[in-house]
Amino acid sequence: MAVMEIRHYPDPVLLTLGDAVTEFDDKLKKLVSDMFETMYAAPGVGLAAPQVGVSKRLFVMDCSGGKDPEQRIAMINPEVLRVEGEQNGEEGCLSFPGIFFPVEREFRAVVRAHDVDGNLFEVDGMELTARCMLHETDHCDGIVFIDKTTTLKREMVKRKIKKLQKAGQW
Ligand code: NI
Repeated sequence: MAVMEIRHYPDPVLLTLGDAVTEFDDKLKKLVSDMFETMYAAPGVGLAAPQVGVSKRLFVMDCSGGKDPEQRIAMINPEVLRVEGEQNGEEGCLSFPGIFFPVEREFRAVVRAHDVDGNLFEVDGMELTARCMLHETDHCDGIVFIDKTTTLKREMVKRKIKKLQKAGQW
């Protein structure tokens, strides 16, 4: 296993629609395993393939931070089937280190995906699980969390990032 480099905004790979995964082979299993290691090392609760420079539609998540093995989930070719309700809460992203702001998301989401062997399964999640699945599915589609906020907030975040870049801190 290996920890991979996490790409920071505005790396173009983060803003590109990922390709569907079609091969459920050892290479995919290695990628998923490395993505879990990278996510836990960061640490974070979710990580999508574009964030490690791989323009494919898959992500890993663990909202328990490694405490509950049942929450260690890899979702390949995720598809949001149903959403319900609303929640508004602070969100962060490993591709935007140190940046947090409130993002409105649906309270509940049912997401269908393939597992590493190509079998379809569904996760019906609420609160943080729903937020995480929606945030990571967005990554698979080239959408980042600043796209989910107001223009004003988005411009503020972009300015902050430019300052940090100039200071060599991004
Ligand atoms: Ni993210």
